[in-house]
Order: sequence, then C-alpha cells, then structure tokens
Amino acid sequence: MAIENKLSIGILGATGMVGQRFIQLLENHPWFEIAWLAASDRSSGKRYADAAKWRLDTPLPERIGKMTVAPADPEGAPKIVFAALDAGIARELEPRFAGAGCAVISNSSAFRMAANVPLVIPEINAEHLHLIEEQPTRKDSGGYMVTNPNCSTIGLVMALKPIQERFGIEQIFVSTMQAISGAGYPGVPSMDILGNVVPYIGSEEEKMEAETLKLLGKLEGHAVTPLPARITAHCNRVAVEDGHTECVSLKLGRPATREEILAAWAEFKPLAGQALPTAPDEPVQWTPEPDRPQPRLDRNRGRGMAVTVGRLRPCSLLDWKFVVLSHNTIRGAAGAAILNAELLASLGKLEPRA
Ligand SMILES: NC(=O)c1ccc[n+]([C@@H]2O[C@H](COP(=O)([O-])OP(=O)(O)OC[C@H]3O[C@@H](n4cnc5c(N)ncnc54)[C@H](OP(=O)(O)O)[C@@H]3O)[C@@H](O)[C@H]2O)c1
Repeated sequence: MAIENKLSIGILGATGMVGQRFIQLLENHPWFEIAWLAASDRSSGKRYADAAKWRLDTPLPERIGKMTVAPADPEGAPKIVFAALDAGIARELEPRFAGAGCAVISNSSAFRMAANVPLVIPEINAEHLHLIEEQPTRKDSGGYMVTNPNCSTIGLVMALKPIQERFGIEQIFVSTMQAISGAGYPGVPSMDILGNVVPYIGSEEEKMEAETLKLLGKLEGHAVTPLPARITAHCNRVAVEDGHTECVSLKLGRPATREEILAAWAEFKPLAGQALPTAPDEPVQWTPEPDRPQPRLDRNRGRGMAVTVGRLRPCSLLDWKFVVLSHNTIRGAAGAAILNAELLASLGKLEPRA
C-alpha cells in the first residue's frame, strides 16, 4: 500500500521512555509524520529538548527537539494519536481523545481488557480490530481506542501463536526476567537493582495471564472469548537495560515433535505481502545456540520487532519448554503501537470519518 501524503500524528506522553521510542521509530516513517507532542503540565509549554531527558542511543532529531510540548488536550491535536501515558492518567485522557474523534493507539493497560476495546498484535489477532465498531465514540465522533499488550505479554504470545494454531495449548507456565526500561524513567532505583533481582512487578503477572488469553481468544459476535487454557506467570525485574527474557513450559492439545514446532515458528509469516513498513519479515526467529537468546545479543533482531526463541527441549512436567526474548520498548511498546497503526491505515480505518 502507498500513502501519498504522510498522515499527521501526535504523541501523548511524548517525554517518557515509550514516548521517546515513538519519536525514534517515527523519524523518517514513510506514512506518518510527527506533528504534535504532549505530556504533563510539568512539560507543556517547554521546548521538547528541554522537557524530555533523552535516554536513547540515537540523537534526538533536531526538528523534534525544537517543537513545543502541548498540553494533553484534544484541542489542536491531530486525529491520530499514539498514547504512552501512565495507566491512571490514560484512563482519564484516552476516552477524551477518542470522544473528540481521534484514533487513539494506546500502550497503557487502562483499557486493554475492556470488552469493546481491541487488544491487538497484527500477526496474532488482526480480526479483533472489529471491536472498534462496538465503541460508542466510533458512532458519535469517529474516534476509538486500540491497545497493544504489556511488554512481557507480547513476546510470549508471538512464540505461542504458531504452536497454538497447529497443536492447541492447554497449559502455560512462564517465568520472566524483565529489563529495567520496562518501568519507565527513572524507574527502579539503581541501589535496588544493581547486582540484584526483584521478584515482584506490581500487577504484571495478572496482566500477562489475562492478556495472553484475550489475544489468543476468538472474536465471537461482539466480544472476544478468551483461549480456554490455564496459565501461570512469575514476573521478575533484573539488571538488564532493554529486552525481556522468558522461560516457558507448555502442555499442548495434541503431541508435536521438535521439528514440527520449529517448522511452526519458521513458517509463521502472517503479514507477508502486506507491506506494513514496521513488520519484520521473520517475526519469530529461532536461534540454535545452547546459550541463546540473550538480551544484549538478540533484542534488535528485525529492528527490535522480531522475537527470538531458543532452547526448545522436552519438559518433564508439561510437554515442551523454551526461552523467548523480545525488545520491551520496541516490540513491547512503541513499535507494537506503530504496527497497529499501520494495519489500521492499510484497512482504511485511520482516516477521519466523513
Ligand atoms: N517502558 C515499557 O517497556 C513499556 C512497555 C509497554 C507499555 N508501557 C506502558 O506505556 C506507558 C508509558 O510508559 P513509560 O515507560 O514511557 O513511562 P514514563 O517514562 O514514566 O513516561 C510517562 C509519560 O506520561 C506523561 N504524563 C504523566 N502524567 C501526565 C499527565 N497528568 N498528563 C499528561 N501526561 C502525563 C509524562 O510526562 P512528563 O514527562 O511531563 O511527566 C511522560 O511523558 C505506561 O502505561 C506503561 O505501562 C511501557
């Protein structure tokens, strides 16, 4: 698909960790152009370069640094808004933007589990986008909300989907080692995390369990029926900058050989031919080395949009176990939202309604 004139987009929460990733990933995007940046009262009215503490390892684009941060108000905002707000404030602001006719492509957990809000990964459940039409704002102003999952959920579900569609999944056990950037900036104090592991991330286990089953669920009529599998998650914060690593054990619906599982991952290319600019060619990449995947070595595969799986072996409690790694602020946040917006654009659902 070609888009002749770039679509103007805004970023809510532009100064945070995920907001900065949006800016980095949208620089030179073929379809979208950043036209508006907003954050809290602490930042609004300032030049972006003064308001944000730029934390990424590529330079802040000059044009963006000079932009003035706007108040987080729909007036003056473009009709396409990427949102990277804390959940508490997202709960209040995102519906206001949707009510004002904006397509709100959100990263926060505030509405992920709402029955009429799609929780989407384009490779996994694009058909759930239909839920947009169930939102009252869609009928009134044309605006709507679409969400992407938690950063720890997305890697897991990318690895599970190819297995689930061929063999079924009955039970899922997952234990995570999550990077500090997942907690935003400044995040976990260095005195708490250096040389340490924190075996608790508030609400993370509940989010991972519920979101995984919604993502792998079926759209039936006006709602999603979650996958009828049992799942348990252990979530841990570790002293890694970027990249969440997860150890997974699965009980399948029917037996599968190692070769069949490797083939399911290798052949999983549901977006092939759709030419979405941010979609990786190979979304689930296998690494045969016995000590991979590792965050520092594998997180940037597919420009941070591919997940890496390794160490597939029989599990003596369930059927199979493996390790999956994904980049938490790219595939797990800003990149996921951008891919959702590209899918919406390709379906003609990003343009304001007449
Ligand atoms: N980091 C990750 O890996 C990750 C992954 C997936 C999802 N998420 C989700 O994405 C969201 C953002 O996460 P983050 O890590 O980027 O957090 P963050 O670094 O703390 O950034 C929060 C952003 O929200 C803005 N904000 C705070 N209060 C506001 C208000 N009252 N009005 C308007 N803007 C306000 C902040 O602006 P100021 O700078 O002006 O305070 C900042 O731009 C969260 O919901 C998080 O759970 C994060």
